[in-house]
Amino acid sequence: MTIAFEPFAPELRADPYSTYRRLRDEAPVVFAPEANVWCVTRYDDVMQVLKDHDTFSSNGMRIMLMQSGKEGPPPLEWRLFRFIGLVALKARMHPKNFGTARGLIMEDGAEHSEMRTIVNRGFTPRRIGRLEPRIREVAAACTARLERGEDFDVMKDLAVPLPVTMISELLGIESGMLDTFKGWTDTVVESISTNEGRADRLAAPFVDMFVNMSAYLRKTARARRKDPKGDLISQIVAVQDGKQLSDYDIVTFVMVLLIAGNETTTNLIGNAVNALLDHPDQLEKLIADPTLVESTLEETVRYDGPVQMLFRQTTRETEIRGVRIPKGAMVAPILGSANRDERQFGEPDRFDIERRAQGHVGFGFGKHFCLGSSLARLEARCAIEALLPHLEKRTRIETRREWVDSFLVRGPTEIRLEARH
Ligand code: HEM
Repeated sequence: MTIAFEPFAPELRADPYSTYRRLRDEAPVVFAPEANVWCVTRYDDVMQVLKDHDTFSSNGMRIMLMQSGKEGPPPLEWRLFRFIGLVALKARMHPKNFGTARGLIMEDGAEHSEMRTIVNRGFTPRRIGRLEPRIREVAAACTARLERGEDFDVMKDLAVPLPVTMISELLGIESGMLDTFKGWTDTVVESISTNEGRADRLAAPFVDMFVNMSAYLRKTARARRKDPKGDLISQIVAVQDGKQLSDYDIVTFVMVLLIAGNETTTNLIGNAVNALLDHPDQLEKLIADPTLVESTLEETVRYDGPVQMLFRQTTRETEIRGVRIPKGAMVAPILGSANRDERQFGEPDRFDIERRAQGHVGFGFGKHFCLGSSLARLEARCAIEALLPHLEKRTRIETRREWVDSFLVRGPTEIRLEARH
């Protein structure tokens, strides 16, 4: 049985979960012609894809993130020459070398493990744990409007600025550059995860951001190699066991961090707040016992996770649940569906902050398991803890709910809270 399914369709955003359920039951492995991807929706099949790195290559992530979903170089046109010229003259880098630069999330095998070992140094639980006081300070500054009794948008006032501020500080971006860096971050995310942005990778805002950020990161990487500081850039540029990242690897990796680390955490905070406000009994339970905040966040990643799907490319002809997939095809394991699979989780559509479900795949699985999961969990915990005392004194302004314009990440555009009268 075949169901017409388009994973990138904006209409899906309001409620992808009922469609996922139908797919799991009636067409668990289905080809979406417009997106040109095979969509996989059952938990066991998603695990098959995530575990078998030899057959399902992470080059699929490169094609979706860096090449607008189409393999190969962009068409020759004057804007391409402008781009090449700017990268060479302003950033003083060779555009061609970006083609072989390593971006972690899109690498396989030895390339991946070597790079993961290098960048892991910056994300050890100890290093991340040391950030807690600063994360609390930023979260407190973000929620000051609530203290003053002013209207508050959870997204704009807390969920967006907290992760961007933290990643910038972690990387060691100078304070004078923070606003510029935040601007670049917005452009990276927009141009990669929206249908509109992906359609035109040579649009001026993307090109300007790419050139300026490459120039800045190249300069910073060189400065940190000579004179290391305690920041993440210093750690990842350092030579270890004779292995070192090139300037191209650094620029590509930082872009991946911005894509993988910011909007995801923003949406974890947003999805958690919405789920709690949608389920007043669960909110009450959390207010009565705030130690449940960690399991609340874990349940949010399962129930309404920020990352709905990943991408892989087949290296050979293969089969999933008896469906033949050709070599070179794009495959999307749909995490948001696997996490609601009734074959794996009891009453999967129930938001239960005490569930403590084992084995959700909201942070991925295996070799590519999310590098930033402890940072995301810590930031979201600090955010919810800063917000919690105010949630019972506030009501959500119920406008029509809108979701971010992205097929990669899932979350609300705003959650406005007003003081209860
Ligand atoms: C709730 C927030 C987050 C979610 C749901 C999430 C989800 C994921 C998922 C599903 C993957 C697997 C990708 C794959 O298998 O292809 C992944 C990988 C990754 N994530 Fe996260 N992420 C979050 C936050 C972060 C943060 C805060 C950072 C860093 C600051 C980060 C950095 C990365 C990186 C670098 C990878 C690639 C790891 C590799 O390929 O070895 N993520 N993330």
